[in-house]
Amino acid sequence: MIEVMTGVPEARARFREIRGGGATLGLVPTMGALHAGHTSLIERARADNDRVAVSIFVNPTQYDDPADLEKYPRTFESDLEKAEAAGADMVFAPDFRDLYPDDYRFRITEAPLSQRLEGAHRKGHFDGVLTVVLKLLNIVRPHRAYFGEKDWQQLQLVQGMVNALFIDTEIVPCPTVRETDGLAMSSRNALLPKEHRRLAPRLHAALTAGRPVAETVAALEAAGFDVDYVERWSERMLGAVRIGNVRLIDNVEI
Ligand code: PAF
Repeated sequence: MIEVMTGVPEARARFREIRGGGATLGLVPTMGALHAGHTSLIERARADNDRVAVSIFVNPTQYDDPADLEKYPRTFESDLEKAEAAGADMVFAPDFRDLYPDDYRFRITEAPLSQRLEGAHRKGHFDGVLTVVLKLLNIVRPHRAYFGEKDWQQLQLVQGMVNALFIDTEIVPCPTVRETDGLAMSSRNALLPKEHRRLAPRLHAALTAGRPVAETVAALEAAGFDVDYVERWSERMLGAVRIGNVRLIDNVEI
């Protein structure tokens, strides 16, 4: 059975023991509802490290919409099975009081990148993400932590925070895992009704079509999406759309 820890003091002591014994430790931070994207991160962590921990915590501080937070799928028992099958040794699953003894009085803020793209549509989102990631890195103190490229902006901000605050963890970016029709794996995909699931791969198709931004937006709108943004950023094309009450994001290298 996979080891499960919930309390912060217990988890810190256990992680300290692992590091003290000379083992390398990899962390895969998640909010649960594990899918093949997450298990690919766990498998990569398994290949790189002696011990692998997965954190499961649906972080309320990164949600500006309580309904969105409520909708996030909670599948703890099957998450444990998937994490173990992918090679994790332990799961750290704290609750809000464990992780936020300060009730979120202290938080990490970045500007200006965190206010663009996702940040422009989800107020305070990246404050919540950076704060919880910093807490997890401080508790686990992993040698490496694994983040998917699907959340490209999140990855850049986490890497930037680790550099800026001299955190002793290597951030390992991992490629987006896709369904056979191109749709990026996401816990939100489970919320798509059939007809929207059929449309969803068009986001990836539009971003990879090589058209200018305005034409990409027009193509997405014609397909039936509400477009939050499409933007070129360095060598990538990023997009976020809404279909029904599900929001999808993706990005591709140009
Ligand atoms: O990418 C996610 O699942 C979350 O934003 C993270 C990094 C686990 C922080 O809650």
